[in-house]
Amino acid sequence: MRRRGRKSRYIHKNIRRIVLIALVVILGSVVLRTGGSFLRQSRSLLSGVNQADTSLGWNLILVNGDYAIPDDYELELTELSNGKKVDSRIYPDLQEMFDDARLGGLHLFVREGYRTWEEQQAIMDERIEEYKKEGYSKQEAKKLAEEYVAEPGTSEHQLGIAVDINADTSGSSSDEVYTWLDENAYKYGFIKRYPPDKTEITGVNNEPWHYRYVGEEAAKEMKDKNLCLEEYIGQLKP
Ligand code: DAL
Ligand code: ZN
Repeated sequence: MRRRGRKSRYIHKNIRRIVLIALVVILGSVVLRTGGSFLRQSRSLLSGVNQADTSLGWNLILVNGDYAIPDDYELELTELSNGKKVDSRIYPDLQEMFDDARLGGLHLFVREGYRTWEEQQAIMDERIEEYKKEGYSKQEAKKLAEEYVAEPGTSEHQLGIAVDINADTSGSSSDEVYTWLDENAYKYGFIKRYPPDKTEITGVNNEPWHYRYVGEEAAKEMKDKNLCLEEYIGQLKP
């Protein structure tokens, strides 16, 4: 009797242990999942940024320090020959622009296309570290970094519709490439997103390499009227 009692207590104890472990595993995975998505959303909520408006179409979405990429934003990517990726919808115009630039004798390449949230975060962290090494406080370093790098969740690179275009300096100078882009990119639907005369509005320093797809019609109007994207969107909305 005593021996059987002990055995059954042993079995019950082990069953309780197994049930407890199973419960911990199930609860843990639920917490991790909901915790993960909460964290993702709270990152944009914490910085007090609204979600960008998509009502004007994917090519006219405005993301900047005030408007973050919507959580449910979807995109399909096309890989370029150098491994960089862009939104598939901008690929034909991007390719045509590069073909024409190369026919004109320019040597250029896409240095940056689509970036994940994590990649954007890593670039931001790296830039902050560089400024800290120069002697700036953490707060100052972050502020300076933000003049060139968008906060994760607010970068056009995460949309896949912006590219950083550089000169292959073995064949062209940066000046030659930037000048050609400045004069011609609008014909293919791209705009220089952060021009030097609009830094007060865009919140980003002059970036002669960063081109954003908006489509031919919008790009032409912005070029003709010298409007940055914030100004163009502002005049479309009442
Ligand atoms: N350099 C631009 C602002 C970006 O990080 O998206
Ligand atoms: Zn860029």
